Amino acid sequence: MKQDLIVILDLGSTQNTVIAREIRSLGVYSEIHPHDITVEELKAFDNVKGVILNGGENRIVDGKPVEIRDEIYGLGIPMISIDYPQSKCGAKLDELPDHAALKKFIFETCKAETNWNMKNFIADQVELIRQQVGERKVLLALSGGVDSSVVAAMLIKAIGKQLVCVHVNHGLMRKNESESVVKVFRDELHANLIYVDASERFLGKLENVVDPEQKRKIIGGEFIRVFEEEARKLEGIDFLGQGTIYPDIIESGTKTAKMVKSHHNVGGLPEDLKFELVEPLKQLFKDEVRACGVELGLPYEMVYRQPFPGPGLGVRCLGAITRDRLEAVRESDAILREEFAKAGLDKKVWQYFTIVPDFKSVGMKNNARVFEYMVIIRAINTIDAMTASVEKVDWDVLETITSRILSEVENVNRVCYDMSPKPPATIEFE
Ligand code: XMP
Repeated sequence: MKQDLIVILDLGSTQNTVIAREIRSLGVYSEIHPHDITVEELKAFDNVKGVILNGGENRIVDGKPVEIRDEIYGLGIPMISIDYPQSKCGAKLDELPDHAALKKFIFETCKAETNWNMKNFIADQVELIRQQVGERKVLLALSGGVDSSVVAAMLIKAIGKQLVCVHVNHGLMRKNESESVVKVFRDELHANLIYVDASERFLGKLENVVDPEQKRKIIGGEFIRVFEEEARKLEGIDFLGQGTIYPDIIESGTKTAKMVKSHHNVGGLPEDLKFELVEPLKQLFKDEVRACGVELGLPYEMVYRQPFPGPGLGVRCLGAITRDRLEAVRESDAILREEFAKAGLDKKVWQYFTIVPDFKSVGMKNNARVFEYMVIIRAINTIDAMTASVEKVDWDVLETITSRILSEVENVNRVCYDMSPKPPATIEFE
């Protein structure tokens, strides 16, 4: 490893990720580990420059008081406690440490160097991937989302054609999305990419299915089946690449950083398809994943794209999916994205998309009565997607989008703007 490491031992504080991110922002790498880490485990990182103990107000984990193992105090690694009045190593700072105190500990006491950056991270990961994989092959489900795209770019850099990417187009992708995955990965990065157009198969399975949960189950289940069929056609694959990121492995909402048992298969691949996992992003926060993608040369739009649900446009074409309404969602979404980008809103608004409900309303076109669908525009801001507020989009921008949708999208005669925050609404409609 090229980076110096500051270890945060989690004794039940909820602030550990905040501290880890603050230390990383100073250019020093930091990881959170459970309070019961052993001396051997700590020594196995040969680059630990300092240890921070943090248990919040009372050092309680799962309802029980906790301490670190006594032997850790004897290691001679600089330590600081930032929580607890009677901590054994003495130093005590009230609640969170201020920025200056944290800097003093990291740079003066621990003498850590500012060597945490994406270039070093990528160099380390490339070396680790090559050691792990050797001459063997890795399979990756490349959805075109941020995490899977960055993993793909990293693996291509490390092992080139030993990576086999499978992109499944379920027919519920946004306009030109699958085409852009093929263009970037096959044409520009020369990836070994298998493109599967399974649109008809998915739309067939979804015919007349109204219930949102049922739709999600069908899309998820069918995705695994298509991926599995492709995997079985390939020979000599030992590894599965996964876009696991740091928040996925730090159990959120509990008081200790536990490793969530890693899913040994992509969302339920059959047991007889046995793969070892390659997870080169598992130490990164989301913004670091994006920075890594940029450093690896991926296009800005791919790395900074807004969140997009796994079931895709399927949950925005409400009720039973029909081809005409699916096209209306896809085309109106493309117009919305284009106009938001022109107005500079793509860099400001967290998530924005269109929805087409499964009912019609009366309207007038060319002096004749029409009975057509409506498009609903949703644009929200949020920090963690748990709550969300509505973006106050400029009226002129909304008018431009409305007039384009009404003139360019077939089967639509009405556009509405969703004013509902979350809660009580959710971000998606289904
Ligand atoms: P809700 O609708 O629950 O959405 O307020 C919160 C965030 O999660 C996204 N979302 C999904 N993401 N698979 C995903 O990967 C899904 O099935 C899914 N459903 C919702 C949604 O777009 C929003 O950002």
